[in-house]
Amino acid sequence: MNGMRIATLTSGGDCPGLNAVIRGIVRTASSDYGSTVVGYQDGWVGLMEDRRVQLYDDESIDRILLRGGTILGTGRLHPDRFKNGLETIKANLADAGVDALIPIGGEGTLKGAKWLSDNGIPVVGVPKTIDNDVNGTDYTFGFDTAVSVATDAIDRLHTTAESHNRVMIVEVMGRHVGWIALHAGMAGGAHYIVIPEQPFDIAEICKAMERRFQMGEKYGIIVVAEGAMPKEGTMELKSGGVDQFGHEIFTGIGQQIGDEIKARLGHDVRTTTLGHIQRGGTPTAYDRVLATRYGVHAARACHEGQFGTTVALRGEHIVQIPLADAVGTLKCVPEGRYKTARALFG
Ligand code: F6P
Repeated sequence: MNGMRIATLTSGGDCPGLNAVIRGIVRTASSDYGSTVVGYQDGWVGLMEDRRVQLYDDESIDRILLRGGTILGTGRLHPDRFKNGLETIKANLADAGVDALIPIGGEGTLKGAKWLSDNGIPVVGVPKTIDNDVNGTDYTFGFDTAVSVATDAIDRLHTTAESHNRVMIVEVMGRHVGWIALHAGMAGGAHYIVIPEQPFDIAEICKAMERRFQMGEKYGIIVVAEGAMPKEGTMELKSGGVDQFGHEIFTGIGQQIGDEIKARLGHDVRTTTLGHIQRGGTPTAYDRVLATRYGVHAARACHEGQFGTTVALRGEHIVQIPLADAVGTLKCVPEGRYKTARALFG
């Protein structure tokens, strides 16, 4: 169908490439279908509160390709958390004359998208997250940028660690999964990688570091995902409780592993927590291309009436998969991938 009115919003943690998706949607909707696009601000809250901006296919939309973050703003609240959420959303979309909605977000956002779709709203999702943990798609945009930032940091830590004979811990993002730690650790030649999917044994990490020093190496680099957990009974972790969204508040696993190594081995240890640096700034070329393709395909899917789906990357191709296939569980690092990385530890 031509001449539609499409709405989009970005929800969850921001991610390099969000603006490239928005640009892809606006350019495709306008030039290929003569449609218009409106953006809701600050995620689902903006849709609930009917805060929207018209997005024009002009020079300003072109310039956002390089820009990190999201021009629409984002939020973490999900639509099913609002009282009368469904009725309000339906009324606001009808009022704005919206024919289709494209929510861009991670697993939680796509869950919200599925809920709306199950309740009769025409929805096409776009998966995003630096964590790369959305099921059904080979990669999410933002991941490549985060890995590049983390790898650059690891590269830099090698020289300072070697100069000072230190063990350097690098804590990267990855609440539930260790994709960033795995890829950045492998690319950066880390001597140990710790991920949430594989509970760690501090004694084993210490052994790997000891082996290095005994063999005459002068330093060690350990990459740790923020959500990593010790094997039961091997190490006490500080507890941080949960935040207003039910997310566990982390207490600095990198620092705690570092303290333990120092106490057990006596080595000089330093910890670097990369945090939101991994999420900010301009997307890599790979992420710009992937995000743009997602935006173009999401706009096409709306005009072809492929609702209740999300775009996904399968090999070289962008495909539409049911929203149900992208939610419910997360895409974890398979054991085999971790085994491959382990071959390089120590
Ligand atoms: O977007 C996912 C993520 O980057 C997680 O890896 C991390 O735990 C979380 O977001 C941090 O979010 P916030 O911006 O709320 O601190």
